[in-house]
Amino acid sequence: MDTSIVRNLFKEKFATEGTLYFSPGRINLIGEHTDYNGGCVLPGAIDKGILAAIKPNATQQVRAYSADLQAYCEFGLEESDKPAASWAHYIFGVCREMIKRGASIRGFDTVFAGDVPLGAGLSSSAALESTFAFALNELFQAGFDKKELVLIGQKTEHNYCGVNCGIMDQFASVFGKEGHLIRLDCSTMEYEYIPFHPKGYRLVLIDSVTKHELVDSPYNKRRQSCERAAAAIAVEHPEVKLLGDADMHMLEQVKDKISTEDYMRATYAIQENSRLIDTCEALKRDDYETVGKNIYATHHGMSKLYEVSTEELDFLNEVAKECRVTGSRIMGGGFGGCTINLVKDEYYDTFIETAISRFKTKFGKEPKIYPVKISDGARRLS
Ligand code: GLA
Repeated sequence: MDTSIVRNLFKEKFATEGTLYFSPGRINLIGEHTDYNGGCVLPGAIDKGILAAIKPNATQQVRAYSADLQAYCEFGLEESDKPAASWAHYIFGVCREMIKRGASIRGFDTVFAGDVPLGAGLSSSAALESTFAFALNELFQAGFDKKELVLIGQKTEHNYCGVNCGIMDQFASVFGKEGHLIRLDCSTMEYEYIPFHPKGYRLVLIDSVTKHELVDSPYNKRRQSCERAAAAIAVEHPEVKLLGDADMHMLEQVKDKISTEDYMRATYAIQENSRLIDTCEALKRDDYETVGKNIYATHHGMSKLYEVSTEELDFLNEVAKECRVTGSRIMGGGFGGCTINLVKDEYYDTFIETAISRFKTKFGKEPKIYPVKISDGARRLS
């Protein structure tokens, strides 16, 4: 990402130099909606994210400028100082969550910009939170470790942005490592880096250019469904805290005690966790055909059982099948955004051309194509 825009804007606005920090967005190979169910996920950071220039200003005020929105916002650091602009909630939330944990965060000036598309399911919001969590931790010597920075980002979403998200996005953004996926157990926060260099294959995202908006969305409702199903199972099996601890046999036992909808959601969540474990085994054998089958099965589950797909995403999934793509599915929270596709080199060009032209004919707009490069997590650049 070209740093000069942010660097120059900072100089222009604040007549001094800021320190540059960057945090990435993420992809997730498989394991969707499993994080808040205490299951596992398999994300990786990408080479697109949020870049910020930041400098403490010796006051108790934050002065923030969003280069992309061309919007300015100024706010204090007390709970009652929550700014009106929703984009600023992410920065305010990070400050507040750090202060609540005992850090002495003071005022600062910042200019930030991103090249991770907003609302495309690539976790632009986690990238924003991680950039500020990482930066303020250094600039104000708050002493949090990386896992605490992840939790600060997640709590910002819960307490200041209205999304009851899991831990995956912030974890990937902070812990990302070039050329590696992260197998993260979301119940313990234990993780392992898995080298990912699928020889003969490429990963590509196709953006359906239908924005997903998780705030006030059915995302929180999905989580509630899963929690109700887990609570019903826990009556007979007290060791089950979340669906990640349950199996299909346990779910069948409570089928009559929960709604059909909750049963469908829980079926997906339990099956998805097994698919993730199976996929990790397949990756160890370089068995990308099995990885691909599981990815398609996830799409089917997300579309038919979890019901977080859209007409556009289902269409892109069908086109992928026709173009002999090894695995394709909706990625991230759902309700819009991208599909992730594992494609053999020899089918890549035809797939991309076909997807663009068929999508354009059907929906009258052009999908965007993002080749994936698995990259490093949150860092200082200067
Ligand atoms: C969003 C949330 C994550 C996760 C995914 C679905 O990206 O922020 O915590 O739940 O959806 O896997």
